Amino acid sequence: MVLDEIQHILIIGSGTMGQQIGLQAALYGYDVALYDIDPAALETAERRVGAYADGLVASGRIDRAQAGAALARMTYTDDPALAARDADLVSESVPENPELKAGVFAQFDELCPDRTIFTTNTSSLIPSLFAEGSGRPERLLAFHFHQMVWDSNVVDIMPHPGTQPELVPLMESFARSIGQVPIVLQKESYAYVFNAMLNALNTAALTLVANGVVPPETVDRAWMGVMKTGIGPFGILDLVGLDTVWHIIDYWANQTGDSQLRANADLVEGYMDEGRLGVKSGRGFYSYPDPAYARPDFLGGDLPDFPPA
Ligand SMILES: NC(=O)c1ccc[n+]([C@@H]2O[C@H](COP(=O)([O-])OP(=O)(O)OC[C@H]3O[C@@H](n4cnc5c(N)ncnc54)[C@H](O)[C@@H]3O)[C@@H](O)[C@H]2O)c1
Repeated sequence: MVLDEIQHILIIGSGTMGQQIGLQAALYGYDVALYDIDPAALETAERRVGAYADGLVASGRIDRAQAGAALARMTYTDDPALAARDADLVSESVPENPELKAGVFAQFDELCPDRTIFTTNTSSLIPSLFAEGSGRPERLLAFHFHQMVWDSNVVDIMPHPGTQPELVPLMESFARSIGQVPIVLQKESYAYVFNAMLNALNTAALTLVANGVVPPETVDRAWMGVMKTGIGPFGILDLVGLDTVWHIIDYWANQTGDSQLRANADLVEGYMDEGRLGVKSGRGFYSYPDPAYARPDFLGGDLPDFPPA
């Protein structure tokens, strides 16, 4: 298969990541079908994709015509057979659960043409966990995006030992064709490259709060004040989505039996129980659309000038 033969992209799971990946591919000229098991999720997805496109227009990144053309290339369906019919490439973004992912790939293995490449956007799992279950291990690999795909435009490409080797350079070309910088891993490794570093930061941040050392805002104030970034660990967790964060920590707490990871998962679960899922629900560690960390006084605006007058 060559790059020109990839034209129809099927996104499975129309949540936070499916929406962004779908719009990104459509902006670069691909036909995109978003499939979800939940019709209500598809309605939300169509609205959010429109809002993302509006935001890109408002910030001058694209013009109205480009937005309109991309949106016209996108379809939304809860009919798996219809979604699968023409797919050249699948990008899977269902919740972070290896059995669920294997089941979804097995379902689409029956429905997709033989040529279809299966990619997973898993954050913290490795494709060999569900390669056999997928029904087509040789056509499966990880192709992992980072949240806000048009800004954080890096993708991890991670084959498993049974992936056809020629898929790696093909997916590198595909990544570039949708404006993403490809990072190829030489071997399977949990959490890829950037996320491996980010997870360590997030674990440290959650541990400080779960152990009652400081509240979330103080963690972010420390990080943002030293690193001079516009967002800290808890703002990032809100962006990721606290249900997605919980799935990841819960998985690793179960795998390792680590009591600190369990305490961190329980902390996040407490927010979820109150319906606080982060940016996507309007409330997480912060309230949206105007989170406290984005306000000018967040870092302690009452300091004297430097140098003092
Ligand atoms: N949120 C992030 O920042 C981020 C970044 C990179 C990768 N990821 C990974 O992407 C994946 C999805 O994360 P998300 O944050 O977009 O999740 P999400 O919860 O926002 O969306 C998941 C979607 O999958 C749908 N779904 C559930 N079961 C399904 C099924 N059987 N068939 C089809 N659709 C189904 C749900 O209805 C929902 O719309 C996870 O593996 C996550 O680890 C997330």
